Amino acid sequence: AEEEVTKKEQKQVLNIAHRGASGHAPENTMAAFEKSVDMKADMFELDVQMSKDGELVVIHDTTVDRTTNGTGAVKDLTYEEIRELDAGSHFSDEFTGEKIPTLGEVLDEYRGKSGILIEVKSPSLYPGIAEKVADELTSRNMDKPNNNKIIVQSFDHDFVQTFHSLLPSVPVGVLISYNPFGISDSLLSEFTEYADYVNPNKDMMDASLLERIHSFGMETHPWTVRSQEAADSLLQLGVDGIITDYPDYVDPHKP
Ligand code: G3P
Ligand code: CA
Repeated sequence: AEEEVTKKEQKQVLNIAHRGASGHAPENTMAAFEKSVDMKADMFELDVQMSKDGELVVIHDTTVDRTTNGTGAVKDLTYEEIRELDAGSHFSDEFTGEKIPTLGEVLDEYRGKSGILIEVKSPSLYPGIAEKVADELTSRNMDKPNNNKIIVQSFDHDFVQTFHSLLPSVPVGVLISYNPFGISDSLLSEFTEYADYVNPNKDMMDASLLERIHSFGMETHPWTVRSQEAADSLLQLGVDGIITDYPDYVDPHKP
């Protein structure tokens, strides 16, 4: 019977490809999102920032230096300049020519095909970004619950609150950086005012934190799993979703 419970838990956990299936293809590119869908992950995660001319672009760092052949801050480059960059060859030659996508392009391509976990990075650098993300969703009618999940999350909890007020129909999550002291009940209680998900660094997750998040009526998608052992221990605990560079670690039976 114990084995059956474990299997059931494994079936229900959301398999979330981190920056797309970024263990297999360059992070935050169409190739990584395609790989996530090929691997039958339930959702993929992506990071959003804003160009100088106000385009929402999908990139993790506040500069283009690490993941492209260019240099400079995202907020100081126009979309036309960003569009010219190669976001694939840092991963391997096979992916040369991959571009930095816009959030709109990703939503158009993957609506109805995959859940999408949208992380808004450093929103304090980008005035108006909450309204822009909300517009991208409402203009596509993606702000209503449908077959595929959309969740918006950020480390900036003021932003999460603002976004929730703007678009209460879209579920939101608070990201939590590693903190050896854990997450207090009073903080969890504050989160219940607006958040649906509390998504901590995976090294903070244990049975007690999981139980406390659930008892406050929220769910949890810890990050970032990069080994089979880490995936197995979170599956065993029974978390609600696992954010991983390798969707194959969460469900080894899928291709
Ligand atoms: O989805 C959570 C995780 O992506 C947060 O960390 O640095 O990979 O954006 P980071
Ligand atoms: Ca992220």
